[in-house]
Parts: sequence; C-alpha cells; structure tokens
Amino acid sequence: MSTSRIVELSARIAANTAALDAYLTSKNLPTPSFDIDGPHDCLVPKSEVDIEKARIAIAEDTTELRSLVLGPREYLMSCSHNDLLSLQATVRFRLTQSFPVGTETTFSSIAAFCGLRESNVRQILRHAIMMNVFCEPRPGVIAHNAVSRLLAEEKPIFDWLATNCNELWKAAAHTCEAWEKYPESDEPNQTGFSLANQTDKSIFEVFSQNPDRAKSFGNAMRSFTQGTGFELRHVVDNIHWASFKDGTVVDVGGSQGHVCFAVARAFPSLSFVVQDLESVITTAAKEIPRDVAARVKFMAHDFLTEQPVHNADVYIFRWIFHNWSDKNCIRILRNLIPALKPGAKIIVNDNVLPQPGSISKWQEKKLRDMDLAMAEIQNSRERELGDWRSLFKLADDRGVTGIVETTDMTD
Ligand SMILES: C[S@@+](CC[C@H](N)C(=O)[O-])C[C@H]1O[C@@H](n2cnc3c(N)ncnc32)[C@H](O)[C@@H]1O
Repeated sequence: MSTSRIVELSARIAANTAALDAYLTSKNLPTPSFDIDGPHDCLVPKSEVDIEKARIAIAEDTTELRSLVLGPREYLMSCSHNDLLSLQATVRFRLTQSFPVGTETTFSSIAAFCGLRESNVRQILRHAIMMNVFCEPRPGVIAHNAVSRLLAEEKPIFDWLATNCNELWKAAAHTCEAWEKYPESDEPNQTGFSLANQTDKSIFEVFSQNPDRAKSFGNAMRSFTQGTGFELRHVVDNIHWASFKDGTVVDVGGSQGHVCFAVARAFPSLSFVVQDLESVITTAAKEIPRDVAARVKFMAHDFLTEQPVHNADVYIFRWIFHNWSDKNCIRILRNLIPALKPGAKIIVNDNVLPQPGSISKWQEKKLRDMDLAMAEIQNSRERELGDWRSLFKLADDRGVTGIVETTDMTD
C-alpha cells in the first residue's frame, strides 16, 4: 500500500525536527520559543548546510500539511486579511513601544499611551496575540513575548513591518483597480500605490517629500539584507572588488549606504560614492559610520538624469532595476553611458526569477511575492534570466558580459 502524502509529510517533519533538535541540544543552543527570552533568530549557522536544509524543509512541509488537512474550502477561508490589520495597528500606534520589555501592562494603559479607545486596543491586541505578537499571561494583563520584544528593540525590523503594512498592503489593496484603470501602463505613477495615496506621483516622489516614510523604507530594505539569501556578504564575497584596487565605486540608488559600508570595511583601498534622491541623502549623510567616513561620500542624484560621476571603475545597481519597467530601465542605463570610461563595470545585483517549479515552493513564493510588490508600487516586475539579457541588449548593443549567482537561499 502506498504511503499517503500527509503521512509522507508528517514522517519527514518528524525526522527533520529530530535532527534540528539534536543539533541545538548538542551545541547547547536554545530550543525555538516565543517566550520573552527566546532567540530572535534561528541559531543554526549557515555553514551547517544539512541542518539548515532540515529547518527550511520543516517550514515548507508543515505549511503543505496544514493546507492539505484543512482542505480547499477551509484553506481558502483561513486566508485572512485581518492578519495584516492587527499587525498594522501594532506598528502604526507603536503598541510595542507602549510599555517596557519585561514589565506587564493593561489595555487601558496602552489606550492612554496611543490615544485609541480601550475597546479597540483590546480587539487589536487579542488578535495580534493570535499572530504570535505579545502575550496575555492573565486575563487583561499584557506582556511582551519574543516577537513583540524584537519589534520593541530593533528599529529595522519594526520599519520592515511598518513599510509592509502602511505602504505595501495599502498599495496591494488598490492594485487591481490600477490594472483596470491603466491596463497598458509602464509608468511608476499609475499604480496601486498612487491610487492608495490619491496622488499622480510615484512612490519615490512621494517619499522624497516625506523623509520619515523614506527613512522607514530604507530601514526596511536594510532588514532584507539580514534575511536568508539576501545578506550583504553575497555582495562583498562574490564580486572581485580587489581587482578594482584603489578605484571608485558608485552605488547608484544606494539608499543609506549600507552596501558601501560593508564593502568598504572588507576592501580598505576602495572609495565610494553613494547616490540617491536628495531626501534620502540628506538623512543618510548625517549617519556615516566613523570607520568608513573618509572613503564614503554621499551625493544627491536622480538616476533618471545623466550620471554626473565620470570615469568611476564600478557602477553598482542593487535592487534598482526590479523597481522599474523596461522602458525606464533602458533610460537609467543609457544615462550612464556618457560617464563610462573604457573597462568600467556596471554591476547589477537583483533577483532572477526561476522557471516555475524549479526551486522549492518556499523560495519561489518569496520571489513571486516580490514580483507582485514591484507591480504594486512601480508598475514593474522581477525578471527571468532571458529578460535581463534582452533588457541590456535593448539599452546597448554590448549587452550583459557576465552573470554570477550570489544567493544561497537554502533549497
Ligand atoms: C529598493 S531600494 C534599494 C536600495 C539599495 N540599493 C539597497 O540595495 O538596499 C531603491 C532605492 O532607489 C532610490 N531611488 C528611487 N528613485 C530614484 C531616482 N530617480 N534616483 C536615485 N535614486 C532613486 C530609492 O530612494 C531607494 O533608496
């Protein structure tokens, strides 16, 4: 008799969980827990390839098993938009900041802190607890758990959640409307984001007039760099930085400079120019870490206009082109051409969409999520390898000269 899929999944989950548990025990590492002192991250180092694979397989297999045992109807009905509402309220009203970590509080104290009605605070928090944020040790008493503590203590992850709930979720909710209204548009100001914000401006134009929102978005980007597969070390380790000796690197759309800071620390003879919109640069330039300050300069530059830094050795675009439709990417690339000296390198660090079903569903879902986010905010998309090659060829006859795979999202 053949084994059913649910038994196959549960056996694999049991085996992988036992392997993970044995590893943690053997290394005296804490078991995963959402208790207030539980670890904020998975403690399996990336070098433990098999254990990390087992951990990701547990997450994938439990998701599939859950969906199967629910069945199609209950599965659909379990997809709740309200999951994002309690998370949005948590960050919007700074509930994680409303009482110190390690203490207890009440709905009425939190209501006094955030100015909401006590009954709304109770609704939000009791739903947030279902989402593993906060805990209620005794009826009416609220305390932090590991998740709310992380949001209370680490600004980049707080901003990641805030950007998702306040900016992207709102944009997503208006994206079908934008597709109906502007079916052929390649423009970044005819999107779900623009409709949600009742503006004819693009997300980056809106942010350029709202430094706080821009900063929060920048921090959200920084949080990505801490996620599996997106760590900055991939940029540091997989590009032959040493071959540029004491050259200059221009980070086009470099946000708050985190990429250049990481590369600068590893390659002390290189110099850097971080370019971004004026509003981003004004804030970022005030916060350059001392150890690299002498070699990293900030410069306001709109990459939809001609590149002002001529004769640099490298122009790096990290997570830029996926924000822009082909028409605009070609414009950005052509703006660079007059500045290029012979031998200058253009490095693009961006996602490459896989063929459907060719990687794990867990990884593929992350990339498909990102693909939709690009449509929501900029009328753009993630690209397959062939799309990248043809994009460069359209911008300039010389096309792409090399592709290096830099992610190691565990499969
Ligand atoms: C997705 S973020 C990537 C940031 C950074 N490269 C990184 O790897 O984290 C896109 C960046 O492009 C910047 N940007 C958007 N439009 C721009 C423009 N017209 N000129 C220059 N920078 C722009 C944004 O402010 C933002 O910092």
